[in-house]
Amino acid sequence: MQIDIVTLFPGLFETFSATGVLGRAVDKGLLEITTHDLRRWSGNRWGQVDDEPYGGGAGMVIRVAPTVEAVEDLLEERSIPPRVVMMTPRGRLLDQQLAQELANEPGLMILCGRYEGFDERVVELLHPDEISIGDYVLGGGEVAAMVVVEAVSRLLPGVVGDPESVEADSFTGGLLDYPCFTRPERYEGRQVPGVLLSGHHGKIRRWRLQQSVELTVTRRPDLVKKNWVRYPGEVRSLVRRYAPELARSCENDE
Ligand code: ADE
Repeated sequence: MQIDIVTLFPGLFETFSATGVLGRAVDKGLLEITTHDLRRWSGNRWGQVDDEPYGGGAGMVIRVAPTVEAVEDLLEERSIPPRVVMMTPRGRLLDQQLAQELANEPGLMILCGRYEGFDERVVELLHPDEISIGDYVLGGGEVAAMVVVEAVSRLLPGVVGDPESVEADSFTGGLLDYPCFTRPERYEGRQVPGVLLSGHHGKIRRWRLQQSVELTVTRRPDLVKKNWVRYPGEVRSLVRRYAPELARSCENDE
């Protein structure tokens, strides 16, 4: 997948895209991350891309012309049109489903704002998908873009070594992950749960599922509500056992 990132701080992405799972995906040619400095399209000698907001008020606004021209030029360079995405706190909240949708695209072009954001005409003219990573305000879209890139890349075939680990991950099945343990068996009097040492695969699978369900109903009942329709019978029965009222309210909503 080709990911183009339009930003005022391309340097932020250098180590990020060369490290760990992402770095390997780039080396293997599964992923290409290209940053583009918006200042290239500033149209002035100083590389200035922002200006004061009409109507007054604090902060600066990124001008429409550099942004639209950057995207139009870059789209022309791409033979397969990517999905254009803008990082903004007013956007659709990123979740695993949106990450999967983006992973199905042939490419992404991510616009990172700074200051008070982009001139609204960028949205009117380019119709980007506006995406937020959470209900808080960051200094700019770059870190949010990294979150998108990381969530999306690990869903691309071949990027994560063991596809089962992606499949089993939190949220993919609409449940939080079960707790994990590794050596030693005992530490400061705390023992690894016996079932994990039993070698009995059926019992281990069942214990892990129970743990996942217990954690999800207590910490994130909203996830249970959201994912109820796609839970298999075994998960639904466990929800009924650990949180009967929550299960009833999910059944009523069906
Ligand atoms: N830019 C600033 N805050 C953001 C957020 N929460 N999500 C996406 N982009 C942002």
